[in-house]
Amino acid sequence: MSDFFGQEIERLKRKDSYRSLRAMEGAAAPRMHVDGREVIVLCSSNYLGLATHPRLKAAAIEATDRLGVCSTASRLIAGNNELYHTLEERLAAFKGREAALVYSTGYMANLGVISAVVGEGDIIYTDALSHASIVDGCRLSRAVVKIFPHNDLDALEDLLRADSGVRRKLIVIDGVYSMDGDLAPFPDLTKLAKRYEALLMLDDAHGTGILGERGAGTAEHFGLEGSDGADIEIGTLGKALGSFGAYVVGSRSLREYLINRSRSFIFTCALAPPALAAAIAGLDLVEQEPGIRQALWDNVRYFREGLHRLGLTTEPSVTHILPVVTYERERTMALTERLLELGVFCQGIRPPTVPPRTSRLRFTVTAAHTRGDLDQALAAIEQTFREFALL
Ligand SMILES: Cc1ncc(COP(=O)(O)O)c(C=O)c1O
Repeated sequence: MSDFFGQEIERLKRKDSYRSLRAMEGAAAPRMHVDGREVIVLCSSNYLGLATHPRLKAAAIEATDRLGVCSTASRLIAGNNELYHTLEERLAAFKGREAALVYSTGYMANLGVISAVVGEGDIIYTDALSHASIVDGCRLSRAVVKIFPHNDLDALEDLLRADSGVRRKLIVIDGVYSMDGDLAPFPDLTKLAKRYEALLMLDDAHGTGILGERGAGTAEHFGLEGSDGADIEIGTLGKALGSFGAYVVGSRSLREYLINRSRSFIFTCALAPPALAAAIAGLDLVEQEPGIRQALWDNVRYFREGLHRLGLTTEPSVTHILPVVTYERERTMALTERLLELGVFCQGIRPPTVPPRTSRLRFTVTAAHTRGDLDQALAAIEQTFREFALL
């Protein structure tokens, strides 16, 4: 047989779509070694800097000592260890919902929830910029999928209006769009969902721990917590909360239904005790230390203003995800490499992660960056963009 894999790899390289793994060394901090060079990391999801927080580490160590490092089975068999109960109670209370169900990853939550909630004969409406895990969940469900232009509620309403007599309608959106850093028009989406009797599902992977007075996320930011918000909300424990895993929150019956019908929940090993314990400690910090969130927002403001002063635009972002669109793939990857040489790591983002001709440097600031880190990064960005005649 001909070398299919090798040919495909060559094709990806010719298209500037080839991906490879970087060698990361050191603790998850603003400064790490990437491919052997010390750099300031500006593309992690460690938004609150909790990945190395002493309280999360202590919780993970204590759980490891007491319970071990493996949950040994799926949750419905022998893996439902005591930490799950605590974490789910805490997540439900944090989000103001009746119940929570922890999944192994956000990717698996989207896959498993969407494919359990809708099926053949149903319709899903989702935003053109929805995360890949939403897209894959839609595909797996066998429902008809209708994609509306980003945040275009008139287009969504036209679609909803045209579909009468459908068994179930599900609208799936992100709270904070992962590649643009803008927000969904959540209040209007809740109204549309009610008007057209659709279920609303919110993916708050990037809003949880960040948005709202308590850090409870997009729904809190818009004053639509609890059952006033989405019917179903998912989020990850692997970004602001500093651990690993994911959750779904909603009604008690939703939780019970998913335990029975969601294949990515049922057929996988339960999370390891240290991950669960660290997530509980992460929630403690989000709830008890709003100063960490404030430090993030201060850094976001400082870095965003710095980029703007250089003449770079970060539209449409209103959050900690700050995209600088550089359009062509090749140039974007060359910018990434030059920035690395100058001591800044910001992985370039290309299609299919973003739409064609919108490749970008997607900067993510964290609460742990110092002003010195941000000033040094801005100087390297200025030099790089000048070298490429982009300033
Ligand atoms: C919007 C969104 N949803 C879901 C996920 C997946 O979450 P996890 O990393 O826990 O699989 C991500 C992570 O990149 C994301 O950005």
